[in-house]
Amino acid sequence: MPLIPVPGRDHTWAALTPATAYVFSVETDPATAVEPAIETDVEPDDGTGAEPRAWTGGETRVVQHYWGPRPPVAALGQLTDPLPGGIPTGFLDPADAAELLPVDGGRRWGVPSLQAVYPGGVRSVELHFEEAVHGENELDLVLRDHAYGLRVSLRFRVFDDCDVIERWVTLTNESAEPVRLRRADSGSWVIPEQAGFRYTGVAGGWGSETHLHHGELPPGETTFTSRTGTTSHKANPWIMIGDATETSGRVWSVALAWSGSWRLTTQRRPEGDVAVSAGFGHEGLSWPLAPGATLSTPPALGLHTDGGHGAASRAWHEHARRHVLPTPDEERPVLYNSWEATWFDVTEQGQLDLARRAAGLGVELFVVDDGWFGRRTDDTRGLGDWWPNPDRFPRGLGALFAGVRELGMLPGLWVEPEMVNPDSDLYREHPDWVLHYPGRRRDTMRNQLVLNFARDDVRAWALGRLDGLVGEHDLAYLKWDMNRSFSQAGWAEGGDLLWIEHTRGVYAIMDELRRRHPRLRIESCSGGGGRIDFGVLRRTDQVWTSDNTDARDRQPIQQGFSYLYPASAMSCWVTDSPNPITGRAVPLRYRFHVAMAGTLGIGGDLTRWSDEELEEARRLVADYKAVRPVIQHGVLHRLDGTPGSTASAVQYTLGDRVVVLAYNPYTLDPRQPRRLRLAGLDPDAVYRDAQGVDRHGATLMHHGLILPTWRYAGADYRSEMVVLRRT
Ligand code: DGJ
Repeated sequence: MPLIPVPGRDHTWAALTPATAYVFSVETDPATAVEPAIETDVEPDDGTGAEPRAWTGGETRVVQHYWGPRPPVAALGQLTDPLPGGIPTGFLDPADAAELLPVDGGRRWGVPSLQAVYPGGVRSVELHFEEAVHGENELDLVLRDHAYGLRVSLRFRVFDDCDVIERWVTLTNESAEPVRLRRADSGSWVIPEQAGFRYTGVAGGWGSETHLHHGELPPGETTFTSRTGTTSHKANPWIMIGDATETSGRVWSVALAWSGSWRLTTQRRPEGDVAVSAGFGHEGLSWPLAPGATLSTPPALGLHTDGGHGAASRAWHEHARRHVLPTPDEERPVLYNSWEATWFDVTEQGQLDLARRAAGLGVELFVVDDGWFGRRTDDTRGLGDWWPNPDRFPRGLGALFAGVRELGMLPGLWVEPEMVNPDSDLYREHPDWVLHYPGRRRDTMRNQLVLNFARDDVRAWALGRLDGLVGEHDLAYLKWDMNRSFSQAGWAEGGDLLWIEHTRGVYAIMDELRRRHPRLRIESCSGGGGRIDFGVLRRTDQVWTSDNTDARDRQPIQQGFSYLYPASAMSCWVTDSPNPITGRAVPLRYRFHVAMAGTLGIGGDLTRWSDEELEEARRLVADYKAVRPVIQHGVLHRLDGTPGSTASAVQYTLGDRVVVLAYNPYTLDPRQPRRLRLAGLDPDAVYRDAQGVDRHGATLMHHGLILPTWRYAGADYRSEMVVLRRT
C-alpha cells in the first residue's frame, strides 16, 4: 500500500513510491494551547454576530520528517526523531519546522504557502487537525481554522509505478462571511539539510525559451514566477535542487502543473534546509472565497531521484508518459506547418502547392497556420472571426482539406481562441468580452486583446466555434496558439479569480473538445514556448517549443526542454536556410538532425527547395520514421557537450534499439573529446551498427565511439545519426 500510516507513530504517514519515501506527521504545538482551557468545541463563526473564539486545543502543523531513498517499512518510525531545538530567544522561530503548508499566522516568519484574510482584517491563520481520509494511493488531511470556518485539506497522491508525489490543497469557506485568499500554494516541500544547494532551472524569453540555469541557491528567498497569465517564455514552473552532475548525485525536483501565472519560491533557511513553495497566481493577487465556496489548487509534483540530472529527467519523462500525456503510446506524425512559408499569405492554391510537396517528403499531417480566417491578411485584424476568409477560400476549407486527404495526409488547423483583434466582427459585437477595467486603457499587443475565458458566455462561444470547425472538417489536429500576455486584467464578476478561471476555461474547452472528438490531437503554443507545463500537457499531445527555428539556437532550447518534458511532446520543425528570423545558414542535414530529436515537423517554403534538397529531405524523413518509436518513446541520455556551442550528442534507447544524434556546430576545436561514450547499455551485450560492426556495450560506454562528426577539424555544422541494435 503506497500511502501508509507509519507503524508505532501517531498521526504519521509515509508516501512510499517504488524508490523513495516521504514521511510526514500531524503535530500539535503544545505551546499554542490557549490557557486556561475552556471548552474546545467552539463553533465557527456562524453569522450570528457572536465573537469568534480562539480554539483552545493547540495549533496543528503538518511536518515533513523525511524525503529520500526508501527504507524498509520497519525503519520508517526512525525517521521521525525530532531535531534538537535552538537556544530559546525572542527571535527563535518555534513554529518554523519543515511544514508542508506553512500558513501566514502564529509565530512564523518564513514563506507562507497559505495566506488568508478573514472579516475584520484578521490575518493569522490557525489550523487544527480534524481527520485523515485514506485511500490506497491518496490521503486527505483535513484541517480547520475553527474560529473563522476555513476548511483546509492537504491532498496527497502517489503512484505504484513512479516516484512522483502529487500534492494539492482544497480550501472551503464554511463560514457565513467571505474570506480573501492572498496566497494559496499547492504546498511546501523541504529539501533536507546538506553542505550546498545547487539549483537547476530554465529561463529565457521569446525565441530563447528553456535555457538552462544552474547556481548555488542564495540564503533567503528566491522567487521564480510568471505574471503574464500564461506559463511564460521567461521561466518554467519547476526547479531541481541538489549537488548533482548530469550523471551522479541526488536531485529533489518540484514542478507545478499549471498554465497560468505562477510563483515558486525557494527559501534557504538558517535551519540548514531549503523549503520550496509553489502555487498558482503571482504576488499582489487575492482571491475571494465566498461563503460555501471551494478552491482547489493545481497539483504540485515532487520527485526525489539519485543518478544526477539525467536520471531526474528520465523519471520525469516516465511520469509524463504514464500519468500526464493523453496519448503517450501513439507515435506523433511528421507534420508540415505553413507559417514560415507563407506567413499571413494563406490561399487554397498556395496551401495545396505546399501540401503536394510535403506529401512527397513523407509528411503525414498538414497544418494550415495563421491567416485562413476572417479578414486576417496581417496581424491587425480578424482574430475572433473563425470562418474561412471568402476571398482566400471561396470554396471554404473543405476543398483544401479534401486535397490534403487525397495526398494521404491528415488535416490540421491553427487557432488562437483566447484572442480578438479590435478590428473584428467579434469585438464590435462583444467589446465587453475582453479583459478590462472600467476607466482604464485596453492596451493591445500584436494588435490584439485577451478574451475573458473565465466568462461562461465566452467559453460557450469558443467551444461552439471550435467544435464546429473540428466537426465540420473532421480535423485531426488543432494548433492552439496564444500570442500575448495579460494586461488591464479586469473581470467585474470575479476580480482576480480571473487569473485562475481563465486558465481553467482553456483547460475545460480543450477537455471537452477531446471528449467530443476522440481522434483530435492538440498542440499547445504560445508564441513558441510560452505555455509548456504539466498542466497543459494533460490535455495536449505536443507543444510548440519556440518560434526560433534556427537549428543552432534550438539546441540549448531543446536541452532545457528535455529536463522535464519528453521528446514526443517537443515539436521541432526544419525550416529554411538562411533562417528567416536569425539569418543563420545551416545545412539541411543538421537542421533535420536537430529537429529529429523530438517530434519532427517541416516548416520551410518547400516551393523554394531545390530537387536535391527535396530528395535529401525525403531520405531524412524516412530515416526519422525508421527510428521514430525509439526517439519519441525511448529513454533519453544527454551525452557529452554543450548543445549548440560544442560537439554534443543525445541518445535514445528503446528495448534493443539505440539511436544517437551527434552534432558539431563548429570547425576545429582541439579541446573537444574525440570519442563519444554512450550510456545506459548492457555492458555484456553486443550492439551492431548499420555497417554491421559489432561492439560490446562496455566498449561503447567506457571507451566510446569515434564519429566523423566529432573529428576536431571539419566543416561547420556536421551531424549524424547512429543506429545500433542489440544482437
Ligand atoms: C506564433 C506561433 O508560435 C507561430 O508558430 C505561428 O503560429 C504564429 N503565432 C502565427 O501567428
